[in-house]
Amino acid sequence: MKFFIDTADLDEIQEASEMGVLNGVTTNPSLMKIAAERAGQSLDFHEHIARICDMVPGDVSAEVTAVDFDGIMAQGRALAAIRDNVVVKVPLILDGIKAINALAQEGIRSNCTLCFSPTQALLAAKAGAAYISPFLGRVDDISSEGMNLLQEIIHIYENYGYTTEVLAASIRHPMHVLQSALLGAHVATMPLGVIKKLLKHPLTDIGLAKFLGDWDTFKQNQAG
Ligand code: E4P
Repeated sequence: MKFFIDTADLDEIQEASEMGVLNGVTTNPSLMKIAAERAGQSLDFHEHIARICDMVPGDVSAEVTAVDFDGIMAQGRALAAIRDNVVVKVPLILDGIKAINALAQEGIRSNCTLCFSPTQALLAAKAGAAYISPFLGRVDDISSEGMNLLQEIIHIYENYGYTTEVLAASIRHPMHVLQSALLGAHVATMPLGVIKKLLKHPLTDIGLAKFLGDWDTFKQNQAG
């Protein structure tokens, strides 16, 4: 399973990158807004995406803000020209599906975002999206079951051998990661806080404290 970090904050990307488990980055307009606020300065979108691409060897999703075909195509081409590892994030709307298909014919990879139903995901795969991003947490937020959506998408893609990678998005906690991995999602994108929570276990902390305490005793006994 590939791990992407869901942020546009360079410090967070650097921290996750240093763990050695990072395979890519997903950004969106909201995450760009947060990154600029934290940095306390305006950020040039294309320059910022270039900086992220230079920090991470894997795919970096950069989202278009146009909602018409021509606008999505123009923004998509410009984003794809930044670096080879840019993936153009396109919303799951009619003109978005058309653009995903046209971008694919130009060799430009897309991440189809804001997916909330398996039939939307089927359209994205048929259009040639490189990634489909079902938003698990936002489905849970409206008292529905995000994991059912993920399971159905994976099932449908396996039925027909679609090569579109399933990118579990809007992940809020480690159980989302565990369940996505059990279902076979190709990628999970998550905030830095969730990545860190994956390694926590109280028995690890208790066990380590015991080992270190016993080691101190052992060393004292040897010296004595
Ligand atoms: C990633 O591609 C999505 O934009 C992101 O996971 C959305 O997460 P949120 O629902 O926590 O905003």
